[in-house]
Amino acid sequence: MAQPPRARARRGTHPTIEDDTMRWSLPPSEMPTTWFNVLPRLKEPLPPPLHPATREPIGPDDLAPLFPMGLIAQEVSTDPEIEIPGEVLDVLRLWRPTPLVRATRLERALGTPARIYFKDESVSPAGSHKPNTAVPQAFYNKQEGVRRLTTETGAGQWGSALSFASAFYGLECKVYMVRASYLQKPYRRVLMETWGGSVVPSPVDQPDHPGSLGLAISDAVKDAVTRSDTHYSLGSVLNHVLLHQTVIGQEAQAQLRLAGEDHPDVVIACCGGGSNLGGISLPFVPDERVRLVAAEPSACATLTTGRYEYDFGDTAGMTPLLLMYTLGHDFIPPSIHAGGLRYHGDAPIISALVRSGRMEAVAHPQTATFQAAVQWARTQGTVPAPETGHAIRAVIDEALAARERNREEVILFNYSGHGLLDLSAYDDFLHDRLTS
Ligand SMILES: Cc1ncc(COP(=O)(O)O)c(C=O)c1O
Repeated sequence: MAQPPRARARRGTHPTIEDDTMRWSLPPSEMPTTWFNVLPRLKEPLPPPLHPATREPIGPDDLAPLFPMGLIAQEVSTDPEIEIPGEVLDVLRLWRPTPLVRATRLERALGTPARIYFKDESVSPAGSHKPNTAVPQAFYNKQEGVRRLTTETGAGQWGSALSFASAFYGLECKVYMVRASYLQKPYRRVLMETWGGSVVPSPVDQPDHPGSLGLAISDAVKDAVTRSDTHYSLGSVLNHVLLHQTVIGQEAQAQLRLAGEDHPDVVIACCGGGSNLGGISLPFVPDERVRLVAAEPSACATLTTGRYEYDFGDTAGMTPLLLMYTLGHDFIPPSIHAGGLRYHGDAPIISALVRSGRMEAVAHPQTATFQAAVQWARTQGTVPAPETGHAIRAVIDEALAARERNREEVILFNYSGHGLLDLSAYDDFLHDRLTS
């Protein structure tokens, strides 16, 4: 039977810009069943993490007080693909595969010949990409008999995701929330509590301190190492976290094919610790035709101004040292609204890709990112998370450059989360209370 013209237009052609409802969905049965491991595809092996006391390379036993063996094995695995357990797929399929959407209204507003596609990770229960790793992390901990998880959260997105995943596997979840976000975002706390998480502001021992992700990690690690029933869970930076996020890029590859695109010219995502960026971009690393771009805040410009060296993952110097771009583990970023981007370091995988020239990085001040986020809201309709606003800023700049060159560039970016619990940030922007 002949397909209706509209459906046919969505497969294999580039429909006219008048069709502004274009989205490509995959059925749950077509979710990727393996994670994409970039480690064996890197030009040089990643240097190992170092023990905080001895500065010698760490082994699995050093990490065992914090993480289950299932995750430690993934941290160092060089298998090109790693199977996703069926019990994890069952939970991820509650909202995955996420849609790939073309932002035709934004394209039109910009007058660009570029075609802008985005993966909508805001449709998850917690409203961001973070549950993609929270679910497997809770699963492997439960499988190994752990009863309780501790973690940090910046914007509240990761704490929400882990509270949600812990509820699904019957684990207790204690969240140390960066105080600046705890005060700015009370409804994120309520969301975490609704899923059964318990939330305290961090740093716990300095009530007037705005906090940082590095300090909150120290609080959560201290808690985990003092209790035998407890493990620590990290929402970004580590290899296994980026691995879990690669479902995003793999789905995008299949959906771009449905849209009739051979490959994107550029893949863009915001970068805090690097997990949503890794998730969408790592499956494209082997394809040298595809540029990869990290968008970070100028207030915490790790990749564009940091040093490439071994540093602690937390502020107190309790975690292993990682080779990464860093502003120094005692750097306290200004209290910008994109709380999830206020981290002094970056994933070693992302750092190595930038170092080798395979990935580019740009930094933007927060007012420029809110201008982009509001332009998005007024053209595409949805309200992005302030973190996602950084990616949108970079996308708009790329689309305007394509207009200058009069080039039909294909842009893919990660819409990492919605901003419906970040409205105080929009209030500040709309009423001229943002500083930079
Ligand atoms: C919506 C959103 N995007 C991006 C990030 C940044 O984290 P990552 O760089 O690990 O993706 C966060 C972190 O909390 C977030 O909530």
